[in-house]
Amino acid sequence: MTAQIINGQEIAAKKRLEIAEKVEELKRQGVTPGLAVILVGNNHASQTYVKSKEKACKELGMYSLLIEMPEEITEEKLLAKIDELNADPEIHGILVQLPLPKQIDERKVIESISPLKDVDGFHPINIGRMMTGQNAFLPCTPYGIMVLLEESGISVSGKHVVVVGRSNIVGKPVGQLFLNQHATVTYCHSRTKDLAFHTKQADILIAAVGIPNFIKAEHVKNGAVVIDVGINRNEFGKLCGDVAFDEVSGKAGAITPVPKGVGPMTITMLMYNTLKSAAETLD
Ligand code: GUN
Repeated sequence: MTAQIINGQEIAAKKRLEIAEKVEELKRQGVTPGLAVILVGNNHASQTYVKSKEKACKELGMYSLLIEMPEEITEEKLLAKIDELNADPEIHGILVQLPLPKQIDERKVIESISPLKDVDGFHPINIGRMMTGQNAFLPCTPYGIMVLLEESGISVSGKHVVVVGRSNIVGKPVGQLFLNQHATVTYCHSRTKDLAFHTKQADILIAAVGIPNFIKAEHVKNGAVVIDVGINRNEFGKLCGDVAFDEVSGKAGAITPVPKGVGPMTITMLMYNTLKSAAETLD
């Protein structure tokens, strides 16, 4: 079997057009969605991500505010800036780019963001609301995965989903979103015994471990849907996912590539969450 390639770039472009139209509608009602991004220090990868977020905001007609702070900033000063943004009516979304320098308590920072502006969906209130199926900001990468499947016509209800990886940002929440949509969910991680036994049961396999080419053909059932969340560099410095694409795409029914799979959806859902936050100020 040769897998259907799920083109995240095309799906993201379609979603961004829909978002841009809704931004225009909101602007006509006097509200311009605004996203504040706080970047602390000089982490190169973070700088690249933040630039893409600014660019996406501008392309979709949103207001983008970038706040850069030095590596040695105190936690107190960072928290004061977040308080200011929490109270700013022009800002509907606040994102503090992670990781943060070690003198700063990441959990304290996340919990200081107003849950009404937590467009990353990392605040415990939004996580709790997501778990109980209430209105919440959903974390962007897991949400993007659900939209990719929906747009590809892949149903979730009753399917067996196996998630490999249990990070707070991807693994744990994506399993919850599948459960909310009536899937049967298994979580695997670094201490799972006989990983292939579990992953071979998956109708939908989510690879979110951060290890290049970790998932091989032997882990995959014929015809399964394989979603690769990894963004790694291989030994030649080339971008690659957690899935050995060449061998797995010969066995899977559908697969996301890296790049142009899950990646473009993450920023798209961040834009969506910012739009949603701005729209909710009119409710
Ligand atoms: N660092 C890497 N990914 C993310 C993300 O999705 N949100 C934030 N705030 N920081 C990140």
